[in-house]
Amino acid sequence: MSKMRSPKIDPSEITPKEIYQARRLFMRMAAGVTLAALAPSVPRAGEALPGVRKSRYVLPDALTPYADATRYNNFYEFGTDKESPARLAGRLKTRPWTIAVEGEVHKPKVFDIDELLKLAPLEERIYRMRCVEAWSMVVPWAGFSLAELLKRVEPTGNAKFVEFTTLHDPEQMPGQNSSLLEWPYREGLRLDEAMHPLTLLAFGLYGEVLPNQNGAPLRLVVPWKYGFKSAKSIVRIRLLEHQPVSTWMRAGPNEYGFYANVNPLVDHPRWSQAKERRLGEFFKQPTLMFNGYAEDVAQLYAGMDLQKLF
Ligand code: MTE
Repeated sequence: MSKMRSPKIDPSEITPKEIYQARRLFMRMAAGVTLAALAPSVPRAGEALPGVRKSRYVLPDALTPYADATRYNNFYEFGTDKESPARLAGRLKTRPWTIAVEGEVHKPKVFDIDELLKLAPLEERIYRMRCVEAWSMVVPWAGFSLAELLKRVEPTGNAKFVEFTTLHDPEQMPGQNSSLLEWPYREGLRLDEAMHPLTLLAFGLYGEVLPNQNGAPLRLVVPWKYGFKSAKSIVRIRLLEHQPVSTWMRAGPNEYGFYANVNPLVDHPRWSQAKERRLGEFFKQPTLMFNGYAEDVAQLYAGMDLQKLF
C-alpha cells in the first residue's frame, strides 16, 4: 500500500487575495447577467406584443396604414405639429413605469406596468378614432377594457368620475417647457363611460408594443369621443366625486367640452364637424354620430342636451 502524501503546492500557484476576490465578483456578475438573460424580457416599442387574441371588435373599414397612424400624431408633450412626436418621443423612458389608481376606491393600488399588462387577457380591437381636427383613422389596438382595472380597485359609492393624468417630466417631454397647455395633460370620463366595455386601456397597436408617440406604455382609447379624450402615457387614474377639469377644457372652454362625443351636428366654433378625412385617403367622408358607436353608447346620454353638453 502506498502512503498518502500531502500535495505539494508551488507558491506561484497561490492566488493572491485581491485577484481571488475579483474573480469571485466577476463570477457573481456573470451569473447575474445569465439570470437576467433568462428572465422574460419586456418587449420594447415596435416589437411584437405577445399573447394578443382576436376579439369581436372588428370593422368593415380599411385599416389606416401603419406609417400614417404612427407618424401623424397629436402628443403636445413632444410639440404641436404632427411629425414631432415620432421624431422626439423616442427619448421617453417607458420602464420602470407605475400607474397609481386612487381616490374614491376601497383598494387603491400602484401598479407596475408589467403587472398591469397581465391583469386581463390582451385583445385586438379594431376601432375608429376621430380627432376633433376632422381627421380619423382605423387602428387595431391591443389591450383590455378599462373596467377590468377599475373593478379591481373597487370604486366607492361616491365615485362618479375618473381622471387620467399623463407623465410630467419636461426633461423627457420637451413640449412641457412651453405654457401652451397646463401640464400634466389631464382628461376625464364619467364613471359609466369609463366602465363601458368599449373603453380600452391600450398597450399596443398592429400587434406591436405601442410606439412612444402613440402613448406608450399605456393609453386610453375611447372610440366614440374625439381623440383628445384618449390620454396617452398615463401615470395616474383617480376616481372622483366631482367632474374634473381637463386640460383642453381649461385651454378653451368654448371649444372643448367635457363630453366631447363625436357629433356631426355640433360644429367646433371654428370649423364644421360634419365630415372627416381618413389618414391615407383623399376624399372626405361624413362623420357618424358617436363615431359610428351609437348603438353601443347612445343610451349613456339619454335625456341630455348634446348641443349644450358638447
Ligand atoms: N395625450 C396626451 N398626453 N397628450 C396629447 O397631446 N393628444 C390627444 C390624444 N391624447 C394628446 C393625448 C389628441 S388631440 C388626439 S387626436 C390623440 O391623442 C391622438 O392619438 P394618436 O397620435 O395615437 O393618433
